[in-house]
Amino acid sequence: MATNITFHPGAVTQDERDGLLGQKGATIWLTGLSASGKSTIATALEQHLLHKKLHAYRLDGDNIRFGLNKDLGFDQASRIENIRRIGEVSLLFAASSTLSVTAFISPYVSDRQLARDLHEKAGLPFIEVFVDAPLSVVEQRDPKGLYKKARAGEIKDFTGVSAPYEPPTAPEIHIRTDQVDVAGAVEIVVKYLLENGLIS
Ligand code: PPS
Repeated sequence: MATNITFHPGAVTQDERDGLLGQKGATIWLTGLSASGKSTIATALEQHLLHKKLHAYRLDGDNIRFGLNKDLGFDQASRIENIRRIGEVSLLFAASSTLSVTAFISPYVSDRQLARDLHEKAGLPFIEVFVDAPLSVVEQRDPKGLYKKARAGEIKDFTGVSAPYEPPTAPEIHIRTDQVDVAGAVEIVVKYLLENGLIS
């Protein structure tokens, strides 16, 4: 636990920063089961925003676990710490006037709420996107063969099989990826950003 530390505020407010850089920051938080489409949508969304000359940056569960979170596994405590760190990192991106696109299973309501609270306290938008497809569908997709391994008992604590997933009850955006394709999903998020004055 750090003690004897002092917070140093910057000389520029969030509004001034956004004005100087010509862009508002926000976190677009994708949550859903493995193989629900989070990474695919996040990748396409980041590409779309960058092509509109907007600063956007994607944080992906698998990728972050190669570096920053390489010390964490998939037990409950590790997942809580994973999401705590990503909530903080995403907040920093949003505070730098970047559109931060996160793609983590983030299975627990309370952890997503903590990430939301952090952003709301800082006056930064937090947009929860439920990337939703039934377990039967994602298990059928199984692009990495992980559900098969989990059912065979080769992976423990696998979300949806042997570890919980708590769906959002009031997400800003709900996308059924068994009904909408990737382009359609990006369109839904972009429409939300436009309608809420986060991009123009
Ligand atoms: S979490 O729950 O938010 O901490 O998970 P996350 O950081 O998003 O990592 C999910 C990716 O890790 C792979 N993987 C597992 N997922 C779930 N449960 C277990 N036990 C597990 N082991 C490995 C898997 O590739 C997940 O990626 P996605 O893109 O979700 O399929």
